[in-house]
Amino acid sequence: MRKLLKTATLFGAGMVFIISGSSFAKTEDVNGMFYTSTKENFSKESQACIECHIKKTQFVVNDWKRSAHYKFKVGCYECHKSDKSNPAAYEHHGFIISTIVTPKSCSKCHPKIVKEYTESIHAHSGLIAQKAEAKSGGNFAVIVLKALGWKADRPIPHKNTYGESTWKDIVNDPVWEYAGVPKELQSPAPPAGAVVKIFANWGCYSCHGTKIKIVKKTKDRVVFDFRTWPMVGAGAINPDGSIGNCAACHPFHSFRLKIVRAGIGACGRCHESEDHPNYEMFGKSMHGAMFLSQFNEWNLDKPVLKAGVDYFAPTCDSCHMGAVFKGDKMIYAPTHNPASICKWKLGMWKLVFVRKPGKPHPALPSVKYPTDGLENRKRAFAVCTQCHSKQWAANCFVGGDLSIGFLDSLRRIAFDVEKELEKQGVATPLDRKIVRNIGAMAVRPTEIAMFHYAPGYIWWDGAFRAATELVEWLEGSVAPRLGADYVSKYVPWIKTYEEKLKAYKETHHIE
Ligand code: HEC
Ligand code: HEC
Ligand code: HEC
Ligand code: HEC
Ligand code: HEC
Ligand code: HEC
Ligand code: HEC
Ligand code: HEC
Repeated sequence: MRKLLKTATLFGAGMVFIISGSSFAKTEDVNGMFYTSTKENFSKESQACIECHIKKTQFVVNDWKRSAHYKFKVGCYECHKSDKSNPAAYEHHGFIISTIVTPKSCSKCHPKIVKEYTESIHAHSGLIAQKAEAKSGGNFAVIVLKALGWKADRPIPHKNTYGESTWKDIVNDPVWEYAGVPKELQSPAPPAGAVVKIFANWGCYSCHGTKIKIVKKTKDRVVFDFRTWPMVGAGAINPDGSIGNCAACHPFHSFRLKIVRAGIGACGRCHESEDHPNYEMFGKSMHGAMFLSQFNEWNLDKPVLKAGVDYFAPTCDSCHMGAVFKGDKMIYAPTHNPASICKWKLGMWKLVFVRKPGKPHPALPSVKYPTDGLENRKRAFAVCTQCHSKQWAANCFVGGDLSIGFLDSLRRIAFDVEKELEKQGVATPLDRKIVRNIGAMAVRPTEIAMFHYAPGYIWWDGAFRAATELVEWLEGSVAPRLGADYVSKYVPWIKTYEEKLKAYKETHHIE
């Protein structure tokens, strides 16, 4: 970035800058920051883009005009320019550009951030999810089809419930010619596997990221598979070989810091729903209550924020990525690895472990954890003690740490029982669903909730749900198949209950 700032010098982390070029003279204050209102100093390529795009895509230009990039003369071409080595590059009104602006493009000016992000698990989440689904049948496509018992090549006609075909109305639609529809879906009865991938990509992969596929390329146009683009998943696999997407959190084109700082939205888009409801938990915590009632009074656009000065309750960003101060000294700089305060890896639905630097990821061994769990805990403790006492914070962490063993034991029982059902040849796809629900939708979120302080998610949607779902399954579904003897290993009352039930049935002559 610095090479671009030939005319401007930044002092410290502040937004104070000295300008030598006269074209910077006129500034206006927008969002608490200074913006130049002159156009001249943009590269001549960018000036061409702006001139035409102000007419064609006014939203883009005006949103960009609100950005720090505009102020620092980072124009359209500086981000979108590309070359022939990028399969997604095309010729556009005399310029070689790419519509997708990947971390590789940002790295020209933000190399440290790109490195941190690319080494984090976030950037790898697309590769990890793909690997995990290949290994364990985790893909939406596979889960849904397996539950139904359908084969991937089963044809699914485009028909309504009266049996009338809807195919012609799909193909004759005015948007059809612009969309990137792969061959396998250009059919009145496409295979089920190809169709469920639509849900996987607009569901799973809009959070995790997927491989962006090109279906058609001409000299001046690149058309992407509609199932893979637009794609702002955290770990998108880009045509230029890079991984990740900065716009996952920084939506274009204002790139305004307030958006990511009020992380309940930027992070909560993906960290939500039953299996990891951080967004919902935060909203229901004391921190969330403070944030939601006051955030508009806080300074969320400054380059670096200080707890108790710029903001008064933490958000996803301030705990996970923000700078940490002790007094006036910054003891931890902001980071683009949000797991820099995580001791445990809690996000996998089958297992939990303490992070070790260089330890390979269980689903994708080529990915190594960049930070150490116990070091991370030090940062976490320093985050809290900016505002709370040491005892307050320590009690919270110990509470989380000491709850994991109990929760994991419930999940372990579910896995053991499922294995036994499989061994006896009496398992059904619904057992898989229940075991997943116990592991992914009950145990995992409760473990995460223990570090996010939302009482309802810790109790009713938490420990209570994990225990009762397990017991309901064992009593109602497993005991009739594997017998009370087996189940009583885990839930001792089942055996007495079965004996009592048998005696009751006998005295009342019930079959
Ligand atoms: C002469 C006019 C003109 C110029 C010059 C021009 N564009 Fe465009 N650009 C367009 C039009 C028209 C579209 C199509 C918008 C649409 O699909 O609705 C477009 C589309 C785009 C797209 C989206 C393409 C897609 O497939 O979604 C990007 C990105 C883009 N332009 C960037 C640039 C950049 C960067 C420059 C300067 C290097 C530039 N444009 C110069 C007119 C122009
Ligand atoms: C800081 C980098 C950056 C700058 C500067 C920038 N863009 Fe973009 N632009 C992006 C990113 C990131 C995307 C999202 C691409 C993706 O991953 O799909 C994007 C997407 C677009 C799109 C497609 C948007 C849509 O909703 O269809 C257009 C068109 C576009 N840019 C035009 C421009 C124009 C015109 C300018 C200059 C006024 C500009 N961009 C400046 C990074 C930038
Ligand atoms: C040609 C250089 C250049 C490129 C390419 C570039 N940036 Fe920037 N960016 C800057 C400069 C200069 C600033 C302002 C100084 C600073 O904050 O470091 C900035 C600031 C930012 C900010 C802070 C905004 C604010 O309001 O304070 C964000 C976020 C950002 N860039 C994201 C990106 C992303 C994401 C990309 C790629 C899609 C990108 N940048 C590409 C030069 C660039
Ligand atoms: C997980 C969400 C997330 C992703 C993905 C992300 N950022 Fe950020 N970014 C943030 C947050 C949050 C902040 C503010 C940190 C703070 O409070 O100081 C930030 C701040 C920034 C800043 C301004 C601070 C500075 O040090 O100059 C830049 C520039 C930036 N990001 C660039 C990028 C680039 C480039 C990428 C892609 C490689 C990227 N970001 C990806 C969340 C994200
Ligand atoms: C586009 C979706 C998306 C957004 C936005 C997003 N995340 Fe994530 N995040 C993910 C996914 C997917 C994973 C799981 C990665 C894996 O383990 O494969 C993840 C993992 C994490 C992890 C664990 C990483 C690790 O090393 O195990 C943390 C912590 C996290 N995110 C925090 C945040 C914060 C804080 C923000 C906002 C500033 C944020 N995320 C924004 C999708 C997202
Ligand atoms: C709403 C966004 C979202 C959707 C939809 C989603 N995930 Fe996730 N997934 C996440 C986040 C966020 C995490 C990380 C949770 C954490 O670390 O707390 C995660 C965790 C995971 C993990 C564990 C990551 C690891 O490190 O091993 C896998 C595997 C996974 N998801 C696969 C999938 C698959 C396959 C689908 C579709 C069937 C899917 N996810 C749907 C956001 C999502
Ligand atoms: C008060 C500080 C704080 C706030 C606010 C906060 N977190 Fe956390 N979060 C933590 C701590 C501490 C941990 C780590 C627990 C451990 O492993 O030691 C954690 C763990 C996580 C994890 C689990 C990562 C993994 O797989 O191990 C994710 C994901 C996450 N947080 C996302 C979020 C999101 C998204 C938000 C906002 C909606 C948020 N957090 C708000 C402190 C916070
Ligand atoms: C920016 C300041 C700030 C930071 C940083 C912060 N908190 Fe808080 N926290 C608050 C405020 C304000 C409240 C509201 C309660 C009060 O202090 O009156 C609160 C409340 C809480 C509560 C709720 C208590 C209850 O009765 O429900 C818990 C638990 C908590 N914080 C734990 C933490 C932990 C653990 C961390 C670090 C991971 C942390 N906080 C970081 C400001 C902060």
